[in-house]
Amino acid sequence: MEIRPESLSRVERYRFLISAVTPRPIALVSTVSSDGYPNLAPYSFFNAVSAHPMTMVFCPANGPEGQDKDSLRNARPVAEGGTGEFVVNVSVEAYERKVAAAAEPLPPGESEFSLVGLTPSPCRQVSAPRVLEAPVSFECKTRQILALNPGVPGGGNLVLGEVVHIWVDDALVKNGLAIDPDALRTIGRMGGISYSRTRETFEMPSGREALEGDQRPTPANPK
Ligand SMILES: Cc1cc2nc3c(=O)[nH]c(=O)nc-3n(C[C@H](O)[C@H](O)[C@H](O)COP(=O)(O)O)c2cc1C
Repeated sequence: MEIRPESLSRVERYRFLISAVTPRPIALVSTVSSDGYPNLAPYSFFNAVSAHPMTMVFCPANGPEGQDKDSLRNARPVAEGGTGEFVVNVSVEAYERKVAAAAEPLPPGESEFSLVGLTPSPCRQVSAPRVLEAPVSFECKTRQILALNPGVPGGGNLVLGEVVHIWVDDALVKNGLAIDPDALRTIGRMGGISYSRTRETFEMPSGREALEGDQRPTPANPK
Protein backbone atom coordinates (compact mmCIF):
# COMPACT_ATOMS: atom_id res chain seq x y z
CA MET A 1 0.00 0.00 0.00
CA GLU A 2 1.11 3.55 -0.64
CA ILE A 3 -0.50 6.56 0.97
CA ARG A 4 -0.70 10.22 0.04
CA PRO A 5 -1.12 12.20 3.27
CA GLU A 6 -3.50 14.68 1.60
CA SER A 7 -5.94 11.80 0.89
CA LEU A 8 -6.31 11.16 4.64
CA SER A 9 -8.49 13.01 7.10
CA ARG A 10 -6.77 14.79 9.98
CA VAL A 11 -7.81 11.98 12.35
CA GLU A 12 -6.50 9.28 9.99
CA ARG A 13 -3.15 11.10 9.62
CA TYR A 14 -2.88 11.35 13.38
CA ARG A 15 -3.75 7.67 13.94
CA PHE A 16 -1.28 6.54 11.31
CA LEU A 17 1.55 8.74 12.57
CA ILE A 18 1.24 7.77 16.22
CA SER A 19 1.03 4.06 15.50
CA ALA A 20 3.87 4.02 12.91
CA VAL A 21 6.39 6.20 14.73
CA THR A 22 6.93 4.22 17.90
CA PRO A 23 7.84 4.07 20.66
CA ARG A 24 7.85 7.79 21.41
CA PRO A 25 9.40 9.12 24.60
CA ILE A 26 6.97 11.10 26.73
CA ALA A 27 7.79 14.51 28.17
CA LEU A 28 5.78 15.26 31.27
CA VAL A 29 5.87 19.01 30.74
CA SER A 30 5.43 21.32 33.71
CA THR A 31 4.83 25.03 33.25
CA VAL A 32 3.37 27.96 35.15
CA SER A 33 1.03 30.62 33.80
CA SER A 34 2.01 34.29 33.91
CA ASP A 35 -0.46 34.67 36.80
CA GLY A 36 1.16 31.84 38.75
CA TYR A 37 -0.94 28.68 38.13
CA PRO A 38 1.11 25.48 37.71
CA ASN A 39 0.28 23.14 34.83
CA LEU A 40 1.29 19.58 33.95
CA ALA A 41 0.69 17.63 30.71
CA PRO A 42 2.22 14.71 28.78
CA TYR A 43 3.62 15.21 25.26
CA SER A 44 4.89 12.35 23.12
CA PHE A 45 5.62 14.48 20.06
CA PHE A 46 8.82 15.16 21.95
CA ASN A 47 12.53 14.60 21.79
CA ALA A 48 16.00 15.80 22.67
CA VAL A 49 17.24 17.38 19.46
CA SER A 50 20.64 18.91 20.16
CA ALA A 51 23.46 18.51 22.65
CA HIS A 52 25.17 21.81 21.79
CA PRO A 53 23.24 23.76 22.89
CA MET A 54 21.34 21.16 24.89
CA THR A 55 17.87 21.46 23.37
CA MET A 56 14.47 19.79 23.75
CA VAL A 57 11.40 20.02 21.54
CA PHE A 58 7.79 19.26 22.42
CA CYS A 59 4.84 19.77 20.12
CA PRO A 60 1.46 20.90 21.46
CA ALA A 61 -1.22 20.75 18.74
CA ASN A 62 -3.80 23.53 18.56
CA GLY A 63 -7.06 22.78 20.38
CA PRO A 64 -10.42 22.09 18.66
CA GLU A 65 -11.05 25.84 18.20
CA GLY A 66 -7.46 26.40 17.04
CA GLN A 67 -6.50 27.71 20.47
CA ASP A 68 -3.25 27.18 22.40
CA LYS A 69 -3.03 24.32 24.88
CA ASP A 70 -2.08 25.58 28.35
CA SER A 71 1.51 24.27 28.07
CA LEU A 72 2.02 26.24 24.85
CA ARG A 73 0.43 29.39 26.25
CA ASN A 74 2.67 29.19 29.32
CA ALA A 75 5.86 28.40 27.38
CA ARG A 76 5.35 31.36 25.03
CA PRO A 77 7.74 34.29 25.52
CA VAL A 78 6.80 36.90 28.13
CA ALA A 79 5.99 39.37 25.32
CA GLU A 80 3.34 36.89 24.10
CA GLY A 81 1.72 36.32 27.49
CA GLY A 82 3.71 33.33 28.73
CA THR A 83 6.72 32.88 30.99
CA GLY A 84 9.14 31.70 28.26
CA GLU A 85 9.96 28.63 30.33
CA PHE A 86 9.05 24.97 30.76
CA VAL A 87 10.35 21.83 32.43
CA VAL A 88 10.63 18.39 30.82
CA ASN A 89 10.21 15.66 33.43
CA VAL A 90 10.91 12.13 32.19
CA SER A 91 8.02 9.64 32.25
CA VAL A 92 8.76 6.46 34.18
CA GLU A 93 6.96 3.30 35.27
CA ALA A 94 6.76 4.42 38.89
CA TYR A 95 4.13 7.03 38.01
CA GLU A 96 2.97 5.85 34.55
CA ARG A 97 -0.76 6.20 35.31
CA LYS A 98 -0.22 9.73 36.57
CA VAL A 99 1.47 10.61 33.26
CA ALA A 100 -1.64 9.57 31.31
CA ALA A 101 -3.96 11.16 33.89
CA ALA A 102 -2.21 14.52 33.48
CA ALA A 103 -3.71 14.69 29.96
CA GLU A 104 -7.06 15.50 31.59
CA PRO A 105 -8.17 18.79 30.04
CA LEU A 106 -8.65 21.02 33.07
CA PRO A 107 -9.59 24.68 32.81
CA PRO A 108 -6.66 27.09 33.28
CA GLY A 109 -6.34 27.71 37.01
CA GLU A 110 -7.01 24.07 38.00
CA SER A 111 -3.81 22.10 38.43
CA GLU A 112 -3.14 18.62 37.05
CA PHE A 113 -0.52 18.28 39.82
CA SER A 114 -3.33 18.07 42.41
CA LEU A 115 -5.51 15.88 40.18
CA VAL A 116 -2.85 13.20 39.62
CA GLY A 117 -1.02 13.47 42.96
CA LEU A 118 2.45 14.52 41.82
CA THR A 119 4.35 17.19 43.75
CA PRO A 120 5.34 20.55 42.25
CA SER A 121 8.79 21.58 43.46
CA PRO A 122 10.73 24.81 42.84
CA CYS A 123 13.31 24.92 40.05
CA ARG A 124 16.66 26.75 40.09
CA GLN A 125 16.61 28.71 36.81
CA VAL A 126 12.96 28.83 35.74
CA SER A 127 9.74 29.87 37.43
CA ALA A 128 7.87 26.69 36.39
CA PRO A 129 7.86 23.90 38.98
CA ARG A 130 9.47 20.53 38.34
CA VAL A 131 7.94 17.19 39.35
CA LEU A 132 9.58 16.23 42.65
CA GLU A 133 9.07 12.49 41.99
CA ALA A 134 10.79 12.66 38.56
CA PRO A 135 14.20 10.95 38.45
CA VAL A 136 15.32 13.40 35.74
CA SER A 137 14.03 16.91 35.00
CA PHE A 138 15.31 19.44 32.48
CA GLU A 139 14.67 23.13 33.15
CA CYS A 140 14.26 24.84 29.75
CA LYS A 141 14.04 28.39 28.44
CA THR A 142 11.95 28.68 25.29
CA ARG A 143 14.21 29.53 22.39
CA GLN A 144 11.85 29.39 19.43
CA ILE A 145 8.27 28.37 18.62
CA LEU A 146 7.46 27.21 15.10
CA ALA A 147 3.73 27.24 14.31
CA LEU A 148 3.00 24.89 11.39
CA ASN A 149 -0.68 25.83 11.00
CA PRO A 150 -1.44 28.87 13.16
CA GLY A 151 -4.98 29.07 14.55
CA VAL A 152 -6.15 25.92 12.74
CA PRO A 153 -7.64 23.05 14.83
CA GLY A 154 -5.04 20.33 15.32
CA GLY A 155 -2.27 22.46 13.77
CA GLY A 156 1.16 21.53 15.08
CA ASN A 157 3.60 23.73 17.00
CA LEU A 158 7.23 23.00 17.80
CA VAL A 159 8.43 24.48 21.07
CA LEU A 160 12.23 24.47 21.18
CA GLY A 161 13.78 25.02 24.57
CA GLU A 162 17.37 25.33 25.72
CA VAL A 163 18.18 23.27 28.81
CA VAL A 164 19.51 25.60 31.51
CA HIS A 165 19.53 23.26 34.50
CA ILE A 166 19.19 19.51 35.11
CA TRP A 167 18.00 17.51 38.11
CA VAL A 168 18.94 13.84 38.27
CA ASP A 169 18.66 11.19 40.95
CA ASP A 170 22.30 10.35 41.94
CA ALA A 171 21.46 6.63 42.11
CA LEU A 172 20.85 6.55 38.33
CA VAL A 173 24.15 7.99 37.21
CA LYS A 174 26.79 5.52 36.00
CA ASN A 175 30.34 6.20 34.75
CA GLY A 176 30.68 9.28 32.56
CA LEU A 177 27.21 10.60 33.44
CA ALA A 178 25.38 7.91 31.42
CA ILE A 179 22.07 6.89 32.97
CA ASP A 180 21.40 3.23 33.69
CA PRO A 181 18.28 2.44 31.57
CA ASP A 182 17.33 -0.53 33.75
CA ALA A 183 17.18 1.76 36.74
CA LEU A 184 15.49 4.66 34.93
CA ARG A 185 12.63 2.59 33.46
CA THR A 186 11.17 5.15 31.09
CA ILE A 187 7.90 4.42 29.33
CA GLY A 188 7.04 5.24 25.72
CA ARG A 189 3.85 5.87 23.81
CA MET A 190 2.71 3.57 21.02
CA GLY A 191 -0.55 4.12 19.06
CA GLY A 192 -3.95 4.63 20.69
CA ILE A 193 -3.84 3.88 24.39
CA SER A 194 -0.88 1.55 24.04
CA TYR A 195 2.43 2.17 25.82
CA SER A 196 5.82 0.46 25.95
CA ARG A 197 8.33 -0.28 28.69
CA THR A 198 12.11 -0.23 28.25
CA ARG A 199 12.92 -3.42 30.15
CA GLU A 200 14.18 -5.28 27.09
CA THR A 201 17.25 -3.55 25.69
CA PHE A 202 20.10 -4.86 23.55
CA GLU A 203 23.49 -3.64 22.43
CA MET A 204 25.16 -3.38 19.01
CA PRO A 205 27.91 -1.25 17.53
CA SER A 206 27.31 1.30 14.75
CA GLY A 207 28.43 1.02 11.13
CA ARG A 208 29.77 -2.14 9.40
CA GLU A 209 30.56 -3.75 12.71
CA ALA A 210 26.80 -3.97 13.42
CA LEU A 211 26.41 -6.52 10.59
CA GLU A 212 28.94 -8.94 12.00
CA GLY A 213 27.32 -12.01 13.47
CA ASP A 214 23.87 -11.26 11.99
CA GLN A 215 22.90 -14.34 9.91
CA ARG A 216 19.28 -13.33 9.33
CA PRO A 217 18.21 -12.70 5.73
CA THR A 218 17.17 -9.15 4.77
CA PRO A 219 13.34 -9.01 4.86
CA ALA A 220 11.51 -8.85 1.51
CA ASN A 221 10.53 -5.44 0.16
CA PRO A 222 7.12 -4.76 1.81
CA LYS A 223 4.20 -3.98 -0.52
C1 LIG B 1 0.93 9.96 26.63
C2 LIG B 1 0.31 11.17 26.01
C3 LIG B 1 1.04 11.90 25.07
C4 LIG B 1 0.47 13.06 24.50
N1 LIG B 1 1.19 13.74 23.56
C5 LIG B 1 0.70 14.88 23.02
C6 LIG B 1 1.44 15.62 22.05
O1 LIG B 1 2.57 15.28 21.70
N2 LIG B 1 0.87 16.75 21.57
C7 LIG B 1 -0.35 17.19 21.97
O2 LIG B 1 -0.80 18.23 21.51
N3 LIG B 1 -1.08 16.50 22.87
C8 LIG B 1 -0.58 15.37 23.42
N4 LIG B 1 -1.31 14.68 24.34
C9 LIG B 1 -2.58 15.26 24.82
C10 LIG B 1 -2.30 16.36 25.87
O3 LIG B 1 -1.58 15.85 26.98
C11 LIG B 1 -3.65 16.94 26.37
O4 LIG B 1 -4.25 17.65 25.30
C12 LIG B 1 -3.50 17.85 27.57
O5 LIG B 1 -4.78 18.16 28.08
C13 LIG B 1 -2.79 19.15 27.24
O6 LIG B 1 -2.68 19.85 28.45
P1 LIG B 1 -2.37 21.39 28.56
O7 LIG B 1 -3.52 22.14 27.90
O8 LIG B 1 -2.36 21.57 30.05
O9 LIG B 1 -1.06 21.67 27.91
C14 LIG B 1 -0.81 13.50 24.88
C15 LIG B 1 -1.54 12.74 25.81
C16 LIG B 1 -0.99 11.59 26.36
C17 LIG B 1 -1.79 10.78 27.34
